[in-house]
Amino acid sequence: MTLNRRNMLKAGAATGAAMMTGLPYRVAIGNTAKIKIGAMMSFTGTYAPLAEAGVNGLKLAIQMQGGRLGGREVEIVTLDDEAEPARAPANVMKLLKSDGVDVLFGPVHSGVALAMAKISRETNTPLIIPNAGVAALTGALCAPNIFRTSFTLWQPAFPMGRIAYDKGYRTAIGVSWKYGAGEESLAAFRESFEAAGGKVIKDILVPFPNVEFQANLAEIAALKPDAVFVFFAGGGAVKFVKDYAAAGLKTSIPLLGSGFLTEGTLDAQGADAEGILTTLHYADSLDTPANAAFREGYKASFGKEADIYGVQGYDAGLLLGEGLAAVKGDIGARDALYAAMGKAVIASPRGTMGFSPSHNPIQDIYLRQVRGGQNVVIGVAASALADPARGCRMPPA
Ligand code: PHB
Repeated sequence: MTLNRRNMLKAGAATGAAMMTGLPYRVAIGNTAKIKIGAMMSFTGTYAPLAEAGVNGLKLAIQMQGGRLGGREVEIVTLDDEAEPARAPANVMKLLKSDGVDVLFGPVHSGVALAMAKISRETNTPLIIPNAGVAALTGALCAPNIFRTSFTLWQPAFPMGRIAYDKGYRTAIGVSWKYGAGEESLAAFRESFEAAGGKVIKDILVPFPNVEFQANLAEIAALKPDAVFVFFAGGGAVKFVKDYAAAGLKTSIPLLGSGFLTEGTLDAQGADAEGILTTLHYADSLDTPANAAFREGYKASFGKEADIYGVQGYDAGLLLGEGLAAVKGDIGARDALYAAMGKAVIASPRGTMGFSPSHNPIQDIYLRQVRGGQNVVIGVAASALADPARGCRMPPA
C-alpha cells in the first residue's frame, strides 16, 4: 500500500467532507477495502417480492462479473424501508452513518425515494435507483450522483393512451394507489389518451397499500367506460386482477395497465390475467442473448423466473461495474465515476440501454399480452423513449 501525494490529498479532502456531514471517515487507500452497497428496499408488505427480486438482480450482476466490481470486492448491506416515507430519512442516515456504505441502492417505493435522493445529493453518495419511478428523481432532483436503471412512471404509461384509442376505446377510467407513482402513471395515460381524442372520465385513487376494491369495482361497473387503465404492483396487482375478474368485469370492460400489473404476479393471478394488455420496458419473451443469459443465471441462482424488478437490479450492478472499472475501483474519484456511468451503454436484458442527460434510461417500451401465463411481446409501443425530464437542471459534477 503506497501513500503517495495524490492519495494523501484525497484522504485530506475526504476527512474534510466527513467532518462537514458528520459521516464516518472511510478512505480506502490503495482501494483494497470492500465496497459496501446499502440496499434500502421494501422487504416487507405489498412490494416485498419486488424488493427481493431487485436485490437478487444486483447479486446476479456482481456474480456474473466474477464477484467483484472494478476489481473490488463488494458487500451488500440490506435495510427494510417498509415502504414508509416518514422513516426514510432516518433509514438512509443509518446506512450512511452506522453501516458506512459507499453506494446507495434503492428504493422500490417513490415516496421513500425522495428522501433517499435528497440525502444522497447532499452527501454526494452515489445512488442507483433500481425501481422507484417518480419523475422528480431525474427531474427537479436530478444530480450528477443520481442514476436510475428503471423508468419514470411516464415511460411505460404514456404509450398505452394512444394504443387504447387506436383499439377504438373512447372513454376510460384510471385506478391506482394515491401516491406519486399512481398519480404519475394515470396522468401519463390521460395525457396521450386525451391527445388522441379519448376522454378519461374519472381517476379513482385508493390509499396505499389498501387492497379493498369492491366499492371501486361497483363504481366502474356503473360508469361503464370503454376501458380501465391501472397502476398496481406486487400483492396489490394480484388482488386487483383477481377481484376485477371476480366482479365479472374482465369480459365486459378491457383492463389495461403499466406492465407492473403482470410482473412477478402471473402464477398467483392465473387465468384471471390471461389476455391483459400492458406496456413496459421489458418482457420475459425478448429473444436476445443478453436476456437469455440473464434469465438462465437468475433461475439457476434463485430458483425462480426473473421479472422486471430483477432486470432493474441487475442493470444497476452492470452500471456500477462499468463506472468502477473506469476508475479502477477508486470510488473516491467521484467525477470520473459519474462521467463513466453517464456514458455507459448497458447490455440490459431489456435491450441495449443508454442514459439521458438526466440519468434516466432511454428505452424501448413493449406492448405485451398475457398468453399462457407469460408476458409475451406483441409489438413495440415506443422506440428509444426518453423521459422529458421536466425540471432537471443538472448541476456540474
Ligand atoms: C414506485 O413507487 O415508483 C413504484 C412501485 C412499484 C412499481 C413501480 C413503481 O412496480
